[in-house]
Amino acid sequence: MSRIVPYVVALLSVSANASAQASATHDPGTRVFRLDGGNTSYVFGVNPRGELQQLYWGGRLAATDHVPPAVPMREMASFDSSYTTTPQEYAGWGAGLFVEPALKVTFADGNRDLVLHYESHTATADGFDVVLDEIQREISVTLHYTIDPESGILARSATIENREAEPVTLEQAAAAAWALPPAPYTLSYLTGRWAGEWTLTQETVRPGARVLESRRGSTGHQANPWFAIQAGAPDEDHGEVWFGALAWSGSWRITVEQDQLDAVRVTGGFNPFDFGYVLHPGERLETPVFYGGYSAHGLGGASRLLHRYQLEHVLPRREGPGPGAVPKPRPVIYNSWEATYFDVTEAGQMALAEKAAALGVDRFVMDDGWFGQRRNDRAGLGDWYVNPEKFPNGLEPLIDAVHSLGMDFGLWVEPEMVNPDSDLYREHPDWVLNFPGRPRSEGRNQLVLNLARADVRDHVLEVLDGLLKENDIAFLKWDYNRNWSEPGWDQLPPREQKRVYVDFPRNVYGILKELRRRHPGVEIESCSGGGGRVDLGILEYVDEVWPSDNTDPFDRLTQQDGFTYAYTPQVMMAWVTESPHWLNRRTTSLAYRMLSAMQGSLGIGANITRWTAEETALAARLIRAYHEVQATIVQGDLYRLISPRNGSAFSATQTVSRDRSQSVVFVFIHSTQEGRGFPRLKLKGLDPAADYTLVPIEGKARTGTPPVASGAWWMNRGLEMDQGFRGDFQGGAFRLDRSER
Ligand code: GLA
Repeated sequence: MSRIVPYVVALLSVSANASAQASATHDPGTRVFRLDGGNTSYVFGVNPRGELQQLYWGGRLAATDHVPPAVPMREMASFDSSYTTTPQEYAGWGAGLFVEPALKVTFADGNRDLVLHYESHTATADGFDVVLDEIQREISVTLHYTIDPESGILARSATIENREAEPVTLEQAAAAAWALPPAPYTLSYLTGRWAGEWTLTQETVRPGARVLESRRGSTGHQANPWFAIQAGAPDEDHGEVWFGALAWSGSWRITVEQDQLDAVRVTGGFNPFDFGYVLHPGERLETPVFYGGYSAHGLGGASRLLHRYQLEHVLPRREGPGPGAVPKPRPVIYNSWEATYFDVTEAGQMALAEKAAALGVDRFVMDDGWFGQRRNDRAGLGDWYVNPEKFPNGLEPLIDAVHSLGMDFGLWVEPEMVNPDSDLYREHPDWVLNFPGRPRSEGRNQLVLNLARADVRDHVLEVLDGLLKENDIAFLKWDYNRNWSEPGWDQLPPREQKRVYVDFPRNVYGILKELRRRHPGVEIESCSGGGGRVDLGILEYVDEVWPSDNTDPFDRLTQQDGFTYAYTPQVMMAWVTESPHWLNRRTTSLAYRMLSAMQGSLGIGANITRWTAEETALAARLIRAYHEVQATIVQGDLYRLISPRNGSAFSATQTVSRDRSQSVVFVFIHSTQEGRGFPRLKLKGLDPAADYTLVPIEGKARTGTPPVASGAWWMNRGLEMDQGFRGDFQGGAFRLDRSER
């Protein structure tokens, strides 16, 4: 049933940027497939053995270039089988494969040998679907490829289908594998812990494997499903970078391997640890999407492509005409958590709301503590009714007050969890992840509802739907405060129970999608004790994320720096909270805290009823200034000018609006050592021929700095800070507006 499409040269799409075009071509003579988009080409072919082999991934080739047909690697020795050293697009575990397989299965008769060969392909709207068949058994894999015309970012995934008469168990199923030829490379990835997420970790790629993963049932704080591999040493502005991000909010794994011939491959998808998905005859399993991209402009270039792609292709609520539409900048929020913790009352929240409105806040969010018997974290999760002692008349009076103050209203929920001390658990003790008869490990005094179950999923959906129907709620902060333990699903036969790793996250997506459909105005934040569930899977369904419970403004600079390697500042919520900070007792000025949070989507989370008139006026002025330039900050091209990492005494970022009409610069001194002044900042990304007016938002430039100068001046001569800009934990911000000559 081979369907060979004749020679196809498809012009896929033309993006907002008229010069960016994508094409997908297949040459039946050489059996070579080629995808071009942005500054990237991706090429693979069918080799004489029938395997799909990667041929090229990198800078865009000329349309006139013809890539030679795929030839498998020679067998160097019997120990280096060609099947292992040939970079396959999607290798089955079989025929002597010693590197990471994309797919590993056990057939009903015990056979575990799986060899996948090209069968057919179809051209799709923006790429190819390529079908691989097992050489004997009735199992097939369809590889999906699309390429974005502007960024050249590829979206790859696989659909595995069982056409055997018996069930097949999938023990490992990747979304895609990416290959790079031998060269010295540096790997960058993001690691962390609760209150310490987003540490950029960098190391030379060495022989063997570096495994990035979560075994926790959700994305995790400890590692994030993103990687970047740079040829040579890490560099923000120069050099080739290949990067990828997995769109999956369940247990995931990305393996970066350097094989015995020094070639590198990156395989990612469902985490094979404790995996075992039984595919019944006629059933299919779709993997998550593994995005991959290439930049010739260092790690900065790579993150700018990713940010743009997320804004234009991943996040919900993109608005505007045609291609290039992006979501609106986020409202400036107030959140009550650090001000009141569980001690929420109608009067207390109203007092905070009044003050928030005076600051110019757009959205008032009531955090944990408003429902069930929630006096602390030992009770109440699962009982999503308004606590009658705290809110005798329901939420309506508070919501009305918030509206009359000119703000909209948001609410905290944690729908996937239950406290054993709750009505829900007393009624449905069987609804949680568990192995019958075994202990149920608690985290923060709570258990995880088994959302893979249809009845539990439906219950959670209906409860949230009811809450949104009964109350005028514009926003949900959706929290998730522990990882899985004892992940049993005892309603299924024992060998099917591991489906939970696929069905649970898919049902979370399903609920989010359905809620958005029923309540199109509602916006959602993904929070998991801070940044424990941030990935390109959840970002299809939520408008923003909570990057960390650590709101210390100095720690946040490093976290925000790390975060932006993988994710756009548009989704990066940042609150201004109290000083000294609860986590580390660090004392900082309000201006410094404001500026740190203004690098992302700004929020206020302090007990503002205690703020002095002076503090209130400062915050109100900076919120007004932020609103004016917010779109540039969160949606512009980001340049990390000076990294706060590695004990740096200074840091600076700059964003440039897409049309280069505006730029915003943030500068921070962490500590003035030995009297050193802030370095002169050579700006980036401006139009060299245009004039830009420098407008201070906070702080001063050095005396004698021209108020108006060309982009060339700011990029070559640079911006200098006032000589009085010294001390510990100091900050400044400037905008540059393009002016008519
Ligand atoms: C998590 C969140 C916090 C807050 C608390 C409430 O820790 O990350 O922002 O909402 O839960 O219990």
